[in-house]
Amino acid sequence: MLKAVIFDLDGVITDTAAFHFIAWQKLGNKLGINITEAFNEELKGVDRTESLRRILALENQEQAFSTSEKAALATEKNDFYVTLIEEITPVDILPGISELLDKLKQQNIKIGLASASKNAPTILAHLGLSETFDTIVDPATLKKGKPDPEIFIQACKQLAVSPAESIGVEDAYSGIQAINDATMYSIGIGDSKTLNEANYVVSTTRELTYKKICELWQNK
Ligand code: BG6
Ligand code: MG
Repeated sequence: MLKAVIFDLDGVITDTAAFHFIAWQKLGNKLGINITEAFNEELKGVDRTESLRRILALENQEQAFSTSEKAALATEKNDFYVTLIEEITPVDILPGISELLDKLKQQNIKIGLASASKNAPTILAHLGLSETFDTIVDPATLKKGKPDPEIFIQACKQLAVSPAESIGVEDAYSGIQAINDATMYSIGIGDSKTLNEANYVVSTTRELTYKKICELWQNK
């Protein structure tokens, strides 16, 4: 029986994935590092520090900065990102997501959040969704980031459900790997080529209806 659906935030509940991209590109421009849309796919789901490391590695700049300089660069990106997310309102909840969350609540299916973002509580507040999630994993408490399954396993623990009774929803390749390795059923949102390891892929959140989820669960 399906007991829980555990969601990623950025690119799943709202389109903050685009803001992360803009903010990293701004930092990249300053450092003379070009961040393409294709490379950005490799940053989705990945935490702030590791994202910066991957960006610097593009131009062999990993050793060019001290640990405190790297921390300052990550803060600079985040400060700009925070100004972008200030504009978010409930209108920015991606299509179909509010209806899906309401339906899951009505059916007593638990709702969890498994986001690598330290800004997640702020974003949920802007979206008017702070009370909607039954649990939110605090990424600061984790040993490993996505693609490690820890964040999804932790969400299941917090909800007192087993991974086999849960679905994970992600827009990132690293996130799908994390869900699969947590032995949950994975649903990808986005490009089926990028997310080819997902159990099922929808191209937009509009297609992620409660009815669709039930069909997938019955036929898995
Ligand atoms: C993930 C995003 O959800 O959170 C990544 O997909 C981002 O792009 C990561 O780097 C960390 O977010 P934040 O808000 O803590 O910098
Ligand atoms: Mg995401």
